[in-house]
Amino acid sequence: MGVTRLVKKLRVGVIFGGRSGEHEVSVRSAGAVIEAIDRSKYDVVPIAITKAGKWLPPALASSLLPESCRQFLSRTALTGSKDDVALVGDPSRSGLLSLDSMRGSVPPQPLDVIFPVLHGPYGEDGTLQGLLEMAAIPFVGCGTLASACGMDKVAMKALFRDAGLPLCRYTWLLRSEWEENPAQVVRRIAREIGFPCFVKPANLGSSVGISKAANKRSLEQALALAARYDRKLIVEEGIAAREIECAVIGNDNPEASLPGEYLVREKAAEFLDYTEKYASTGNVEFVVPAPVSKSVTARIQQMAVKAFQAIDGAGLARVDFFLERTGGKLLVNEINTLPGLTDVSGFPKMWAASGVSLPDVLERVIQLALELHSDRSRNETER
Ligand SMILES: Nc1ncnc2c1ncn2[C@@H]1O[C@H](COP(=O)(O)OP(=O)(O)O)[C@@H](O)[C@H]1O
Ligand SMILES: [Mg+2]
Repeated sequence: MGVTRLVKKLRVGVIFGGRSGEHEVSVRSAGAVIEAIDRSKYDVVPIAITKAGKWLPPALASSLLPESCRQFLSRTALTGSKDDVALVGDPSRSGLLSLDSMRGSVPPQPLDVIFPVLHGPYGEDGTLQGLLEMAAIPFVGCGTLASACGMDKVAMKALFRDAGLPLCRYTWLLRSEWEENPAQVVRRIAREIGFPCFVKPANLGSSVGISKAANKRSLEQALALAARYDRKLIVEEGIAAREIECAVIGNDNPEASLPGEYLVREKAAEFLDYTEKYASTGNVEFVVPAPVSKSVTARIQQMAVKAFQAIDGAGLARVDFFLERTGGKLLVNEINTLPGLTDVSGFPKMWAASGVSLPDVLERVIQLALELHSDRSRNETER
């Protein structure tokens, strides 16, 4: 007689898609997560958010996923109702709520833990995390504060600087300042930062709205472009550097993977933008471990953990570095609190090379989500 498994499978809601420019990458990341998750322990409930922000129930969400991963979804997830769904910030109704249940007829579908596999605004930036904290559902990854600080390049840099991490020179401004006094803004940036410089919307990702400026004229164009995407803009000195990344997993005692490096065969663009990193042209290759000395590896890992702790990170993150070509100085560029998880993404590759397979990574981050949730639940809220 076989041993009966008494342990109930946990229902993991995988939220993917989303309103950001990284919608497609999110779908690919979710596909990879669903294929690698341990099905003896977890039932996956797919939940999609369209580009317009509409939430799709599992029965519709699954049709957006790659064909190859549909077989990994539970039957109940696929055959359920096609009613509109939502999560609401009310713990007594937590779970995936059919909006028809507002009339009281349909109970919410319970979810034991949520894995937001969303990149960029409205997913990685604390907005969804705030909703999940309100609903008191355990979820994978950083909480509201860390997610918001990881998305806002100005807030992120202030925390990094406070933690003593080395950064490039930068300044920031509001869009209104630029619109009211463009000439003065350009003069200030030319004086404080100089050329070449990089102009970015403070809160985005995937290189959207980012450009490199070589002189005052191109700086004006760069500011006008970035100002289309955010009310807050950051301008950084241009660094001639190797681009190295390091993956981090953990809550209170985070661990860093071996670092990886983007090696560019032929310089095609002005900088290594998102399309280059995700293109399969063979021009850019992500190599793990990064070909750097043992001591540089150790410094990268220490700095990655420090950056994670500086934003009060949880679960997982990827920390990106610049290693200056002359002088060899190591600078932290940014942290990504929901890094890409596709088969070509850096985060799973760095853990694989460090001896942790994607199924093991997923198991760890789900357990970390449950741990953090019970730690949060200890907090008293009244006197
Ligand atoms: N200060 C800088 N100096 C040199 N290159 C930069 C600088 N900032 C950004 N880049 C280039 O632009 C890319 C995207 O910038 P990044 O800050 O990582 O934004 P995103 O959040 O969109 O990934 C980097 O990977 C790098 O190639
Ligand atoms: Mg980046």
